[in-house]
Amino acid sequence: MNNNLKRRDFLKTSAALAAVQMLPSSARAVSANGKLRTAHIGVGGMGGADLRSVSSHSHVEVAALCDVDSGTLNKALKLHPQAKVFRDYREMFAEMADTIDAAVVSTPDHTHASAAMTALNHNKPVYCQKPLTHEVFEARQLRLTAEKKKLTSQMGIQVHSSATYRRAVAMIQSGVIGKVSRVYAWSNKNWGYDGGPFKNEQTPPDTLDWNLWLGSAANRPFVPRVYHPGQWRKLIDFGTGTLGDMGVHIFDTPYAALELTAPNWAKTTCRPSTGVGHPSKNIVQYEFPGTKYTTDKMIWTWYDGGFAPPMSEELDLPKGLKLPGQGSLFVGEGGHMLLPHVSEAKLFPQEKFKDYEPPAVQGNNHYHQWVDACMGKGETSASFSYAGPLTEALLLGVVANRFPDTKLMWDAKNLQVTNVPEVNKLNLLRRTYREGFEIEGL
Ligand SMILES: NC(=O)c1ccc[n+]([C@@H]2O[C@H](COP(=O)([O-])OP(=O)(O)OC[C@H]3O[C@@H](n4cnc5c(N)ncnc54)[C@H](O)[C@@H]3O)[C@@H](O)[C@H]2O)c1
Repeated sequence: MNNNLKRRDFLKTSAALAAVQMLPSSARAVSANGKLRTAHIGVGGMGGADLRSVSSHSHVEVAALCDVDSGTLNKALKLHPQAKVFRDYREMFAEMADTIDAAVVSTPDHTHASAAMTALNHNKPVYCQKPLTHEVFEARQLRLTAEKKKLTSQMGIQVHSSATYRRAVAMIQSGVIGKVSRVYAWSNKNWGYDGGPFKNEQTPPDTLDWNLWLGSAANRPFVPRVYHPGQWRKLIDFGTGTLGDMGVHIFDTPYAALELTAPNWAKTTCRPSTGVGHPSKNIVQYEFPGTKYTTDKMIWTWYDGGFAPPMSEELDLPKGLKLPGQGSLFVGEGGHMLLPHVSEAKLFPQEKFKDYEPPAVQGNNHYHQWVDACMGKGETSASFSYAGPLTEALLLGVVANRFPDTKLMWDAKNLQVTNVPEVNKLNLLRRTYREGFEIEGL
């Protein structure tokens, strides 16, 4: 047997080594035992679910756990006692960059970019929770950096890889309802806060490193049950309201199916800005340039909190049809497609589509897809090349809630709102990072 043949046979029988051969040039090879050594930043809440899902892949070895809350960190450590623990991800990378292969970022929205960019700066593939970032500029920079370094990336919109959502994409792209002129989407969740500044300042609990939790955001006193855990999503400095939280899942399918790009403009109808919380009722409208799946222009309208779901009559659906609490509706030239979040799409008028057979489509595990791609097998479906522009579009709508009823005209190429100078003056597209928390590339 010649050397080439021997090598071919060997590669066939050694998945781990095959993975090493196909790794992007900038990534470190998997460890000698063929495992991908992962570092997890934020291991409470969704981070706990992310840790379970990533580590359920048979080729993953959890190498490091990082959380600013030591109570949470200790719980995760019980499940992965071999992992090293850290409170500050910067120290984790400084100490372990040579022995970590990939990173998972599951912190609150305002620290996604800092943690993910630190990982990319160390040439690590990243799985980052949604929305990709808190600011538009950060989403652009993460995308550009991941692309430049050819690093595997995935945003945490796990339903994107489900058979249900893939089937909905295939249905739209098959032309079953014709070209789409409008999309309505909604969530009856309410991640808004309409009150004023918080007063009940307290010393943070011993278990929480409040300074690290704030990260790049401006310093302020700790207030219980307002920020950590989970409540931060209502507040403009930390979260992205219901649109950023649920819109990124629900808007994902129309964005993918219609191959949308950057919007021409966005406008939000909501209460005036308080400078503290996101509004608890929003109607957000966007205009997108046409694509091969849409009419010349495509209008997308989002309803959340008290405005959701809209009435079926508003949407030209059968009178009295009860809409799901969360979902979307595609309005095409030849019919409507209702896509509840998350279940199978329904076509209207029902009589017209009664014999319609939806395409057979397979889904797969979004997390394992990322692990496999990190090891050189296949590609991710929601890489930063896809997630960056999707997040930029959504975040423009979040910025628009600061200027109710004003169309923000968008120049995506130059990352600028062209008609409202206050957007730049208030640093709403690119915030100033707190001293000591600046990250190269952001
Ligand atoms: N994909 C989904 O279906 C889904 C569902 C829920 C939440 N999420 C996303 O997951 C992220 C976390 O949301 P959550 O509800 O779990 O929030 P949470 O506040 O409950 O949990 C955040 C965790 O990160 C830790 N943390 C905070 N700052 C940190 C830092 N700088 N370094 C390390 N650890 C830090 C916290 O201590 C906590 O354990 C958000 O981006 C959210 O949008 C996604």
